[in-house]
Amino acid sequence: MTDVVIVGTDTDAGKTSLSLLFLAAFPEQFAYWKPVETGESDTETVRRLVSSATIFEPLARFREAVAPALAASREGRVMPSVAEVLKAKPASAKPLLMETFGSPLSPLSDEVLQVELIRGFHSSIWLVASSAVGAIGRVLQSLTSLKAHGLSASTVILVGPHDEYAATQIRKHWAEPLSVFQLEQPHGRTSEDLQVAVNEQRAELTALRSTLEIKQESTSALDWVARDRAVVWHPYTSLADPIAPLPVISADAEFLLLADGRRIIDGISSWWTILHGHNNRQLKHALQMASESLDHVLFAGVTHPAAIELAERLLPSTPWDGGRVFYSDNGSTAVEVALKMAYQYWCHRGEPQRTLYIGFDDCYHGDTFGTMAISRDPTFFGRFEPLLFRTERVPLSADALDAKLLANKGKVAGVIIEPIVLGAGGMKMYPPRELKAIEAVVRKHGVAFIVDEVMTRCRTGSLWAFSQANVIPDFICSGKTLTGGILPLAVTLVSPQIVSEFETPDRAKTFFHGHSFTANPLACAVAVANERLMETGEWLRQSNRIEQFWRTHLVDLKCQPGVSDVRICGTIVAVEIESRGGYLSEIGPKLRSFSIERGVLLRPLGNVLYAMPPLCTSDESLAKIVDVMRLSVRQFA
Ligand SMILES: Cc1ncc(COP(=O)(O)O)c(C=O)c1O
Repeated sequence: MTDVVIVGTDTDAGKTSLSLLFLAAFPEQFAYWKPVETGESDTETVRRLVSSATIFEPLARFREAVAPALAASREGRVMPSVAEVLKAKPASAKPLLMETFGSPLSPLSDEVLQVELIRGFHSSIWLVASSAVGAIGRVLQSLTSLKAHGLSASTVILVGPHDEYAATQIRKHWAEPLSVFQLEQPHGRTSEDLQVAVNEQRAELTALRSTLEIKQESTSALDWVARDRAVVWHPYTSLADPIAPLPVISADAEFLLLADGRRIIDGISSWWTILHGHNNRQLKHALQMASESLDHVLFAGVTHPAAIELAERLLPSTPWDGGRVFYSDNGSTAVEVALKMAYQYWCHRGEPQRTLYIGFDDCYHGDTFGTMAISRDPTFFGRFEPLLFRTERVPLSADALDAKLLANKGKVAGVIIEPIVLGAGGMKMYPPRELKAIEAVVRKHGVAFIVDEVMTRCRTGSLWAFSQANVIPDFICSGKTLTGGILPLAVTLVSPQIVSEFETPDRAKTFFHGHSFTANPLACAVAVANERLMETGEWLRQSNRIEQFWRTHLVDLKCQPGVSDVRICGTIVAVEIESRGGYLSEIGPKLRSFSIERGVLLRPLGNVLYAMPPLCTSDESLAKIVDVMRLSVRQFA
């Protein structure tokens, strides 16, 4: 990490406020030095408010709050030269925050401007400006004068009340990549006030810190986008996609911080993974603690406490007395395991001809071959059709399923369903009674019943969506939110009846399946912490709050021309806009860009604009999501 020179557009720009916030956020990681100061001592203020930080004494301190050169001459002293200041730079084990005075063009002495000193430091430059009226001009002028002196500041910090307009204009009018962060000053002058301000803005401060971690040869985090384009292949993304990936450098609660300083709401919980909110303290703490003991160990013939405890906690949430937990590391694989296990179950029972699985229209279960074969979505998987094994799909109705099972008597291994909400297929929702009726048909025909809760766990207003219908599945697949979303982990929960067919000394009947990272100890430890967190019931209160918010503020959209449906279930809201083309509908990318420009990350499923934010999302952020959805409807419906 490099040293930083904190430069202001002028006096009182907020340089010391920034130093205080940053040091209070990372007291162990940075040291502070203000080489020259006049008037009230900033060094003393920093020492008083962040007593645990390493603070170096100024080289020169003058009583009068005027230009240092003038203050020096009035005291009959001489300002130190550039060379003297550089020589006095403390040998610090930690990166230094070096606060300058006035502006870059303030005189250091009668002969030299401060900009010469700034150049001499050879460090990253952070340009600080007050967000008060005139910020755009002040920042652009300072950037221009730094540039004229051969210096570049790729990070600007606006201190004061947030001014999105100013931040956007500055980025827009500066031709080079520029990060513009916004920080509010503490409300009072005590260390408690400072800590409150730090806690509220930790994501911004962390993002700011990460601008110092970027590879030396890279001038800005924004270069990532160009570097990424050259080497990375993103999921579900055309290689010739003109939409640049969002460079995310930190996250907190419901927010993602981008390299250019923008703070956007993660309206889809990062592909439905983040449960409570980003960077949840308890989960991160659990990860830290776990990482001090065991990193990873194979899970065949080995066990560890976190895997056992997690299984002990998960099984009682099922309707079974007993059962087993089979670990894997992503949702597709959790489903794949269920498919393989269910078939092997029939083999053990002497019915190997049961090779057929039945899924439902618009279902999605993952991207592996087994899961593709079930969903057979023509847009996603049509190309692979020649490689997929035979399966059947029916409309989501008990009667249709009954007819299909009758027509395939003795050939079906199992039925697989996303309970209550079909996620990737367009956030289609159906009532619990339909699920109950489907279960009755499955039981009538005696085939295995697999519920895929990879997306639905904790999202539909109950821990398991299937429990709303009081059904008893044979397999429950889960992933995504298991660790609160911070590490990959998945499970296939298996009912005692299925398990019993595998309890045999015949080694040929072993379930031959496993992955390198099966039951990764770190992921299991975080998942255990997540289970403990959920015991408080707070997650359900938050889920109900979000559902109520959608019901209050979005239901009426149903009556708007151009809107074919509004669907709400738990934390999920989906607004379906009339449009042709399904997933490939042209309005999908437009809706995405439109919402990102307005500070909300949404990733529509074609013409279905939906949100599923983390549980901690504030009412203010929910209102912003609602605004974006309403505006989108006005613009595109
Ligand atoms: C219902 C369902 N099943 C399975 C999966 C696949 O999970 P993963 O992306 O972790 O492989 C998903 C992913 O969105 C899903 O929604």
